[in-house]
Formats: sequence, C-alpha cells, structure tokens
Amino acid sequence: MVRAIACLLLLAAAVQAKHEQYEGHFLYQVWGSSESIANLEGHLDILSATPAYRSESKKLEALVRLSPEEKVEWLPFFERHQMGYKLVSDNLARILQDEEFENSRARNATDQNSTITWDAYYDSNTINKYLDEVGAKYPEIVTVINAGLSYEGRQIKYVRISTTRFENLRKPVIVIDAAAHAREWVTPPVALYIIQQLVERSEKDLTDLIDWIIIPMANPDGYEYSMNEDRLWRKTRSKSHNGSEECPGVDMNRNFAFSWGTVAANSNPCSIIYEGPAVFSEPETRVIRDAVLSQLDRTYLYISLHSFGNMLLYAWGNGSLPSNALSVHYAGIQMASAIDKLKLDKAPIYIVGNAANVLYFTTGTSRDWTRLVGIPLTYTMELPGYEYQFVVPPTYIPQIITESWAGIVAGARNVLSLQNYPTQTV
Ligand SMILES: *[C@@H]1O[C@H](CO)[C@@H](O)[C@H](O)[C@H]1NC(C)=O
Ligand SMILES: *[C@@H]1O[C@H](CO)[C@@H](O)[C@H](O)[C@H]1NC(C)=O
Ligand SMILES: *[C@@H]1O[C@H](CO)[C@@H](O)[C@H](O)[C@H]1NC(C)=O
Ligand SMILES: *[C@@H]1O[C@H](CO)[C@@H](O)[C@H](O)[C@H]1NC(C)=O
Repeated sequence: MVRAIACLLLLAAAVQAKHEQYEGHFLYQVWGSSESIANLEGHLDILSATPAYRSESKKLEALVRLSPEEKVEWLPFFERHQMGYKLVSDNLARILQDEEFENSRARNATDQNSTITWDAYYDSNTINKYLDEVGAKYPEIVTVINAGLSYEGRQIKYVRISTTRFENLRKPVIVIDAAAHAREWVTPPVALYIIQQLVERSEKDLTDLIDWIIIPMANPDGYEYSMNEDRLWRKTRSKSHNGSEECPGVDMNRNFAFSWGTVAANSNPCSIIYEGPAVFSEPETRVIRDAVLSQLDRTYLYISLHSFGNMLLYAWGNGSLPSNALSVHYAGIQMASAIDKLKLDKAPIYIVGNAANVLYFTTGTSRDWTRLVGIPLTYTMELPGYEYQFVVPPTYIPQIITESWAGIVAGARNVLSLQNYPTQTV
C-alpha cells in the first residue's frame, strides 16, 4: 500500500516536471478577421483556427497559448486590433497533467494481450509493432514498407493494402497520412482503424476494387517528443537549418512544393509554421512525397489527417479554386454527411470548403502539392476535438475512429463512382 502510494507520487512528480514549462500558461479563445488570426500564427502558438460560427462577417476564432509574458504583451494588441478574446484556462500545465493521468490509466486498463486497443494513445514503437503484426497476419493483402528513417533515425513505415499486390494498374489508389503534426495524437488511431477495417474486409468492395497506401505515423520524432518532453510540439525535430539550435524542427505541412518560400512569416525557424530551409528538406515529408509519387497515375484521393476542427479543406491555399472544384466539393460533402450522421450531438457539423476561404492563405501544404501533381481529390481533414479540443481524452477515440471511417468509406465509394476508369477491375 505504502509502495503503491509512493509510486503514484513518483508518477505525479514526473508528470509535473514534464509539463512544468506550461505552469501558469493561459489558453485564450481569440477571434477576429481572417487576416488578423492568420498573422498570429507567425508569432504565437495557435492550437487551432476555425470559422467563428456566430458571426455573419468572415471571422475566425483561434485557440491560443499565452505565457504570462505573452499575455501582458498580446491582450492589449488584441484590443488595439479589434480582436475579441476570452479566457479558456489559466493553467495549461494542469490540463496536460490531467490528460497524462487519463492516458496512463487508460493504457493500464487495456487488454495487455493485444499490441493496441482503441481506447488509449500509444508510442511510435508500439504503432510500428502493430503494423508489422498486421503485415504478418494478413500477408496476402498487406505489405509493410520500411519507407525511410526520420531525422533522429526512427523507422517510418507505411502499409500497402491490395488484393492484387499492387499489380492491377487499373485499380484506383487512395493515400492517407497521419501525425504530420506531432501533437495531433488522435490522428494515428484513425489511420490504424482504417487499416484494420480494410484488412478485415468490413467493406469488401473497397479492397477488391481499390489499392490503399496508409502512413499512420508520419512524424515519429515530433510525436515522441510530444509524448515525452513537450506535449504541444508540432514540428519535426530536425536541426539542419540556420537557427536550429535554438529552434529545431520544421512544420511538415509547410514543407511541400506549393508556393513554398513565398511568405516571409514562414521562414522564421522559431514559428510553429516554419517551412524549413528548402522544399522537402525533411526526411519525413520526403516519405510522403515518394509514397504519393509511387502510384501517382492511379491515385484519386489523398487525405492528410489533422486535429482539430471538423473541417474538410481543399485546394488551393492561395484562395483560387482548382479546375475540378465542383467534384472536390461534392466528394467532400459526401464524406462530411456520412460523418455528421454518426457524430455526437455536441460536435459541430463538418465544414467543407476551400482552405483559404474557410480559414486563411497557406503555402507548402501536402493537400495543395498532391493536387498540383495531379491527384483529383485532395483534402486536409480536421478531426473533431469535442469540448477537449487538442487533448482529446482516450475515451473519445472509439467515437472518432468510427465516424471518420464512415467518411473514408463515403470518399472511397465516390472514387469508385467516378466515370473515368473501369470499376470492374477484377
Ligand atoms: C500505470 O501502470 C504503471 C506501471 O505499472 C504505473 O507506474 C502507473 O502508476 C499506472 N498509472 C495509473 C494512472 O494507474
Ligand atoms: C490473455 O492471454 C492469456 C494467456 O494466453 C489468457 O489466459 C487471457 O485470458 C488473455 N486475456 C484476455 C483479456 O484476452
Ligand atoms: C543565420 O541566422 C542568423 C540569426 O539567427 C542570421 O544573423 C544569419 O544571417 C543567418 N545566416 C544565413 C546564411 O541565413
Ligand atoms: C493559386 O495556385 C494555382 C495553382 O498553382 C494557380 O493556378 C492560381 O493561379 C493561383 N492563384 C492565385 C491567386 O495566385
């Protein structure tokens, strides 16, 4: 008993130490024009940006972390610039401590016999182990690819799922990635659940008629850093740019070759949206690039999983619409409606739209680059945060994976209904 209590205290102390850096940090909801919210991204830690539903004018609201010093500087700035704000929490460290305790409890309560279950978050090694297990269990349809090493030398794996060993070149391909942003922990479970549904053939036609490439852990260095050192880490952990000693890491979703290097704010290594020293400077973005290019001619749908905000965003990040915008919007609406049918009442419905129109201008995103190289349907998918925003408790994982899978099924069926290739491929 005494030992158990001592253990608990030790755990609490370790948890406290890790999150100490956010002791006394504030979370504020801030709202204002699209430009004013976009400008904050270059200077502050923006945890999410979503349309401000209650306003008729084009306004956004953002969840912003402010240190005590930043609070003194920025609240007057918000007032001078006609931006509204509201306190959400006055101690971020406590939120993160509570989350870690919940995760620890959830993991301890899970079935110790299986590598993963759908009610806890796992480290990147465990996720890789699970992928290898799936590959070993379903060798006839799954190939696990060791696609390359991260900057710190972790293996980045992806799975190819195909009933025809990727040899039937008339089948369409769908590519999905997750965890490009390290702190968005709820995205890998969604990718892993998609893999599980596909290998167990829960919708048989979707594997008979489509080949899949799924990258569930695109940024293992950042993810591990987020689990062990800094819960709010978003970028990679590379140190190959000028200024990387002080500010390591690159925002993977600004590192792709679309209008890269055209926005001054993205070239500051210390900002959360640092685009990197060059296009595809990160080994992690190169893994996604090469996976996409490997089957480009027959890839019809690309989805990058992010968290949070209930949005399906499409090209272009500069505000222009792609030539096939109607099809992109239509397929997005089908996915969104399938998800909305299953969502909990307290979640907002999905918003489908042009990324710059719904939010603000972006460069270097995987969504725009995949569209640019010719994939017809490409999206950034922002999963729900429910009332917990970015620290989604593990108890919500089953809900989020189930509703998101329904969206993926609708997206895949849309691919099959397109007219420009044969659907009877077997
Ligand atoms: C989970 O298990 C570990 C190892 O047995 C233990 O140290 C920890 O206190 C447990 N966490 C909770 C919240 O019970
Ligand atoms: C785990 O495996 C052991 C030994 O194979 C078995 O006795 C036990 O019932 C299993 N537990 C669960 C929850 O499946
Ligand atoms: C590297 O960064 C420093 C400041 O961090 C700057 O003074 C210097 O000009 C930069 N050098 C290059 C080559 O960009
Ligand atoms: C946005 O990018 C697309 C694709 O490169 C291009 O066709 C379009 O002209 C650009 N629009 C603006 C306003 O720059």
